[in-house]
Amino acid sequence: MRIDVFTIFPEMLRQFAGHSLVSRAIRNELLDLRLHDPRGHTSDAHRSVDDSPFGGGAGMVMMPGPIFDAVEAADSPRPLYLLGPGGRRFDQDLARELAQGEGFSLLCGRYEGIDERVHEHLVEEELSIGDYVLSGGEVAAMVVIEAVSRLVPGMMGNAESATEESFSSGLIEYPQYTRPAVFRGWHVPAVLRSGDHALVERWRLAMSLARTIERRPDLIERRRGLSDEDLALLREFDLLGGPEGLATEELGDTEP
Ligand code: ADE
Repeated sequence: MRIDVFTIFPEMLRQFAGHSLVSRAIRNELLDLRLHDPRGHTSDAHRSVDDSPFGGGAGMVMMPGPIFDAVEAADSPRPLYLLGPGGRRFDQDLARELAQGEGFSLLCGRYEGIDERVHEHLVEEELSIGDYVLSGGEVAAMVVIEAVSRLVPGMMGNAESATEESFSSGLIEYPQYTRPAVFRGWHVPAVLRSGDHALVERWRLAMSLARTIERRPDLIERRRGLSDEDLALLREFDLLGGPEGLATEELGDTEP
């Protein structure tokens, strides 16, 4: 997989690429990460990449020239996504989709904005990693690269792929424990030490359901509410009231 990133702060991405999963993927030639700095495509003494907005107003706007030149010189893989708070929400579905392709490119916005002609004539789409405003797209680019690259076949071990499986079922993770079995008087749930694998599996799914109901009811809605099996599972472990006593009436009616 090849990922090209256009940024006026390539050092931020270089630091990131030197660590953990991503550096291992690069070393193993599973990931070809290329960084491009639009500043290398400026012609003035100050290597300017921004200018004041037409029509007036505070702040600076990134100029189209250096960005177009950098992208055209790189012949980078498409689609090219601009990272910005106004874009389509990046999520696990899109991460999975991108992981199946050969590559893509990311353009990091900075300052107050980017000349609209970049939106209109250069990038395929704008992506946002959430409803908050960052100073630039670099951190968002790292989020996208990490979420995608861990899904590329061969990039990581089985244990972690299983975690993705669990999220792809549309539920959040069940709680995990390790030794010691009793820590400061707090016990690991007895189910997990029962040795009954089928029971452990049902408990984990029940906990995932209960947590998702409590923390992310929107994900339950996306699954069209709770099935009869879901309800039976919650009942089996006495979680129908939710881990924190959530009223079942709030869970969405699954009856036709
Ligand atoms: N740049 C600034 N804010 C952003 C966000 N929320 N997502 C992606 N890129 C951004």
